[in-house]
Formats: sequence, structure tokens, C-alpha cells
Amino acid sequence: MSSERLDKIISSQLNISRKEARAGIRGGAALVNGAAVKIADYRLDPERDSVVYNGSEVIYKKYIYIVMNKPKGVISASEDNSRKTVIDLLPDRLKRRGLFPVGRLDRDTTGLLIITDDGDFAHRVLSPAKQIYKTYIAELDGPVTGETLDFFSREITLRDGTVCRMAYLKRLGERRAEIRICEGKYHQIKRMFGEAGLGVTELERRAVGGYELPGFLARGECIEIKKNELEPIFRNQQKSINA
Ligand code: URA
Repeated sequence: MSSERLDKIISSQLNISRKEARAGIRGGAALVNGAAVKIADYRLDPERDSVVYNGSEVIYKKYIYIVMNKPKGVISASEDNSRKTVIDLLPDRLKRRGLFPVGRLDRDTTGLLIITDDGDFAHRVLSPAKQIYKTYIAELDGPVTGETLDFFSREITLRDGTVCRMAYLKRLGERRAEIRICEGKYHQIKRMFGEAGLGVTELERRAVGGYELPGFLARGECIEIKKNELEPIFRNQQKSINA
């Protein structure tokens, strides 16, 4: 690990401004390996050296990974002038600069959303080349018929000409289906069902790749997890057949 500035480490890990961190350091609030350091741009290896700030140890994490069960009514963005975002829902201890949702769910869609500040990781998840399938449960305003299954057994072209890659549809009930898609086009599932003459009344994301929404996570709740716990995302998934 290369070295980093003390003020940068403290501000990023404690979610305080760089200015505040600098003032604190100059005032003697920081210890590095047990010794007071009053130089804001003092460089250290945050993975090896210990930092204490205002009497508490600063646990260094280069990136963090959060799993949220997104509720309705919040937008999948880092910030917005007037509307509530998924970042606004995070508890203070998880808030830090640079966090963003990995992909977007519509405002009225619920379920699994990963939030991180690790751009490379997000790129791996979202890269079209990786073809990571996302699993959703859709409630519909009409019945899922043999025709619907037939319709989804081919590539679907939306009315604006957009061609969607193969989706996999499984009937779960008269008006309920599981659908897997490997892209993230705008309102994709709603528009695909629209082409089949069905409206989506509820949509919940249950899995990204082989990583499933933890069952204990209530709507609106989130947990911090380790990057390696998200590895199932990249595991080859069984593609369900249209049935
Ligand atoms: N497709 C949609 O239509 N909405 C979502 O939120 C996700 C996929």
C-alpha cells in the first residue's frame, strides 16, 4: 500500500471535511503509532500504521460495501436537489464521500441495491461484457400466459428500436413472475412487459448474479459487508428457462 496524507485518511474515514481534519491534527488530536503528529500532510501507510484521532482508533478501509433493501420512494443516485436518495438513508456511521449505488433501480422498485465507493468493483458488476443476470420478482396487472412465456423466449425489441438481450421468465403465479435480465436499460423490465401487453404493478430485485438479497434485511435497512462476501455476484448462474 502506498502512503497517504494523514488529513486525507482522517477526513475520509471519519466523514469530516479535510479542513476540519487539518485543524484537529494541528491542535494535537492525532497520534500515529502512539506519537502525536501535528503535520496535516504527514504521510503514512494506512494499512500498517495505527492512527488515533480524538482518543479513538481510526479503522482504515480503503473502500466500503453496503447492501441495502431499497424501499419505495427514494431514488438511486448519490445526490439530488429535492428528492431523497438511497445515500440519505444510510446511517451516519456508514456515510462517507464518494458512495454511489451500483446500477439503478426505479424510484418505485424495491430490493437489493449495492452501494460502494469502489469504482473498479462497480465497473466489474455493470460491465455489459460480464453479462451478470439480475433477478426480479414482478407483480403484473394481467395474467402470465403461454403467450407471455413465448414472447420472452426470444430477444425483445422495444418500440423505440432498442433490442434487449435474452431475458428469462418464470411464472410464479397468475399475475406474478420471476424475471432475469443481464442489462440495465432505462425502465427495462417495465418496458419489456409493456411489449407483452402487461403492466408492472410491483417490482423487487432479489439477486445480482449469484448474490441474493439477505432475508433478514427489512425494507429500508442496510448492512456493511466485506467485498469477498459479494463474490457470488460473479459466479456463473443457472439461467432459468422460460417456464
Ligand atoms: N427494470 C425496471 O423497469 N425498473 C427497475 O427498477 C429495474 C429494472
